[in-house]
Amino acid sequence: MDMRVAVGGLMLQNPVMPASGTFGEEMAQVIDLNALGALVTKSVTPLPRMGNRSPRVAETMAGMLNSVGIQGKGITAFVRDTVPFYREFQSPLVVSVSADTADEFADLASSATVPGVAALEVNISCPNLEDDGRSYAMDPVQTRRVLEKVRAATRLPLWAKLTPNTGALTEVAQAAEAAGADALVVANTILAMAIDVETRKPKIGNVMGGLSGPAIKPIIVRMVYQTARAVRIPIIGCGGIASGNDALEYLLAGASAVQVGTYNFVQPTAMLTIIAEMEAYATRHGVTRIADLIGAAQQM
Ligand SMILES: Cc1cc2nc3c(=O)[nH]c(=O)nc-3n(C[C@H](O)[C@H](O)[C@H](O)COP(=O)(O)O)c2cc1C
Repeated sequence: MDMRVAVGGLMLQNPVMPASGTFGEEMAQVIDLNALGALVTKSVTPLPRMGNRSPRVAETMAGMLNSVGIQGKGITAFVRDTVPFYREFQSPLVVSVSADTADEFADLASSATVPGVAALEVNISCPNLEDDGRSYAMDPVQTRRVLEKVRAATRLPLWAKLTPNTGALTEVAQAAEAAGADALVVANTILAMAIDVETRKPKIGNVMGGLSGPAIKPIIVRMVYQTARAVRIPIIGCGGIASGNDALEYLLAGASAVQVGTYNFVQPTAMLTIIAEMEAYATRHGVTRIADLIGAAQQM
């Protein structure tokens, strides 16, 4: 069974990797990180960040809300401590980067371009302080502007992580491609809210948060399907994956690889099970190369 897929400048041994922010070094105690297609880090920011006020997560029907606010130690400590840790594993390391302005993004990309890092995932779903806090990936002009600056700042492959919170999905995808992105990650969380009727207050300290988990899967599968028709670069599907069949659905819609997020909290070994289930499906259906399934459900 040939599970390899080509994604944005990299050849992955299989299509399954973690989604940014749902995976960390501690996962090495639970699963063999060498078995994953790639390792994707929590978004790293230029400086240390405390994150948003609590509560930062709330469970919802078939999903969860989060508003963590990209808490982290900043790029200097990340390059010093985190990159060497992941360098011990053979799976390529993809560093997710997140910044407040286009120039900060470019400086961050440059600082993250160090030995051991195989690609950068540019989290353009985060708020753009030069555009009133709207996220870059809501708007094709902002998307192109920030990615062109990042492209000029690094030689590493760039994966642009899009947001579902836009009415201009295909235009944003095309703007990312035109700016030199090597792949698109579709997508980040859907802006959402939940209220506790007893306290009459929002369940998330930051009021609104991002919805993830099985509840969003059909929406993101639709987005992958649409994006795959709009661009030539590979797509990484991300949203609500909990099984091999979920991952296969994304491949059939047009994704070349997938990321697993929320389900890692439910079952930390899930990514390994998903890889095994995809292999079993391929064997059952006489598929010798998993890559042959990419886009098979696209209607001409
Ligand atoms: C607790 C939590 C933290 C997250 N942090 C990040 C982050 O730092 N950067 C990012 O690009 N996405 C982040 N995400 C979004 C996920 O990477 C993913 O896009 C989203 O959760 C949808 O996938 P899922 O339904 O499989 O969880 C986070 C999601 C969760 C649940």
